[in-house]
Amino acid sequence: MKVLGIETSCDETAAAIVEDDGEGPGRVLSNVVLSQLDDHRPYGGVVPEIAARAHLQHLDRLVREALERAGVGLSDLDGIAATAGPGLIGGVMVGVMTAKAMAAVTGLPFMAVNHLEGHALTARLTHGVKFPFLLLLVSGGHCQLLAVEGVGRYRRLGTTIDDAVGEAFDKSAKIMGLGYPGGPLMEKAASGATNPGRFDLPVPMKGRPDCDFSFSGLKTAVRRHVENLGGTLSDADRADLAASFHQAVGDSLIDRCTKALKVFKEAFPEGRTLVVAGGVAANQVLRARLTDLCRRHKFEFVAPPLGLCTDNGAMIAWAGLERLRLGLTDGLDFAPRPRWPLDPNAKAAPFAGVKA
Ligand code: KG4
Ligand code: ZN
Repeated sequence: MKVLGIETSCDETAAAIVEDDGEGPGRVLSNVVLSQLDDHRPYGGVVPEIAARAHLQHLDRLVREALERAGVGLSDLDGIAATAGPGLIGGVMVGVMTAKAMAAVTGLPFMAVNHLEGHALTARLTHGVKFPFLLLLVSGGHCQLLAVEGVGRYRRLGTTIDDAVGEAFDKSAKIMGLGYPGGPLMEKAASGATNPGRFDLPVPMKGRPDCDFSFSGLKTAVRRHVENLGGTLSDADRADLAASFHQAVGDSLIDRCTKALKVFKEAFPEGRTLVVAGGVAANQVLRARLTDLCRRHKFEFVAPPLGLCTDNGAMIAWAGLERLRLGLTDGLDFAPRPRWPLDPNAKAAPFAGVKA
């Protein structure tokens, strides 16, 4: 089966074609991503209206390019998938309307994909990971631990009670004068540190019996250190502070994942894999810490290649393909959802960030 996937929920306009041949991992036939970073950089963050207009301007061309690069025509496709939420609603509408129009014209099935399910199932596209698995989902809008039992079957073990981890990277980078987007810039800065233990930062939620996260206090602690340094940082200060930040985030994630592994093992003794997904999963320092954690717990650790961690169309095409295989298609009256939790039974985290 071949499926076209469209992603427009934040600041990447993306289209891709993926294919499966039954069992095991799938194949990415094309994966075209247009980053809008330059459009948003002057504002230090994503401006929803600018994002929606940019998606509208570029999406048709990107879909055409994805088809061309894959060497397929519309008649070779088995279905059309688009991110239908959660995300910035103007952008989501652009992607959903495009996919619905193509489905209406071609008569192909339409799949409304949850963006988070796209991230969650990427490890099945790349590595053929079997259900159930434990998922650490870390992106700009989300920070969750989930037991993934099957397509559309998620049990949330923990979530952030305030900021998402990617948000903490972005906000701390801004406070430190590193610019936007913060994640990759913080990682680059930290690689030049000479004294990574120089700054004392709290390890959020360490030792708590649940599997929840919290990152807003860490950002405040970064601000305090910047103020103590007189507001202006040398490159060496930035490098050391970025490294101390990575240490604190890493310690917190490892502590929370250790708790979640225990809960997961009890509920799913047959499960053997921890998957990390979402933009923050691109971070090499955090990947190394998680690799080490899994080695100690005799778990397999799976992280998708960097380009499939940050937002892309292939993850949406794959989630659409998995849904199509199960007959889980959607009507053309499906309404985009700005909020759309993976586990509808999990209680809402009242102070969590916009998309949690
Ligand atoms: O999944 P994603 O592309 O978009 C959302 O769905 O949110 O994630 C974007 C987030 C941003 O906060 C960005 O700073 C972070 O992922 N990120 C990173 C790295 N690359 C991207 N965070 C830490 N280290 C990185 N290398
Ligand atoms: Zn994402």
